[in-house]
Amino acid sequence: MTGVLELLATRGLPASGKTRFARGWVAEDPSARARVSRDDTRAMLHGGWLGTSWQERQVTVVTHGAILDLLRQGVSVVEDGTNLADKHLVALWDIAERTGAAFRVVDLTDVPFEVCVARDAVRPRSTRVGRESMLRMFERHLQGRPRPLPLPPLVRSALETR
Ligand SMILES: Nc1ncnc2c1ncn2[C@@H]1O[C@H](COP(=O)(O)OP(=O)(O)OP(=O)(O)O)[C@@H](O)[C@H]1O
Ligand SMILES: [Mg+2]
Repeated sequence: MTGVLELLATRGLPASGKTRFARGWVAEDPSARARVSRDDTRAMLHGGWLGTSWQERQVTVVTHGAILDLLRQGVSVVEDGTNLADKHLVALWDIAERTGAAFRVVDLTDVPFEVCVARDAVRPRSTRVGRESMLRMFERHLQGRPRPLPLPPLVRSALETR
């Protein structure tokens, strides 16, 4: 199937369903779509999450490189990270701009905090994030803010002028 070239970025707390959405979207048209995951890249590069800035830099190099190359091959991509901080969305939007891909944010920030915590609690220990970390993310990025989370101004104005 040949459709519009797209870059999708998920946005949401851990266990809000980002990977589940991404897998489903790819499964609808696997020859034309691919999922790129920071979590899986951390596992590939170093065996898992280390929480260091140098690991995050390496993960960014690999994931952004993969996204760019896939889009240049005509394959649409979903990046299934949390993307709650504006700068991460802007960086992904910039990759889409460079390839002519349409950029779309899949906002899962309306999934209630307690639902995310409950889903996280029953995940395998190696993938569990934990309530404390999730609460910090919620307070930093979501508390008192509208849903869907407003897009970064740069991205919003670019999408509005399409
Ligand atoms: N809509 C849903 N209904 C029921 N269970 C769900 C739903 N979405 C996700 N889950 C379950 O919650 C768990 C976490 O989902 P998922 O891995 O998609 O989250 P995530 O947002 O990718 O988390 P992370 O940020 O940690 O990667 C999984 O076990 C998944 O099956
Ligand atoms: Mg995930």
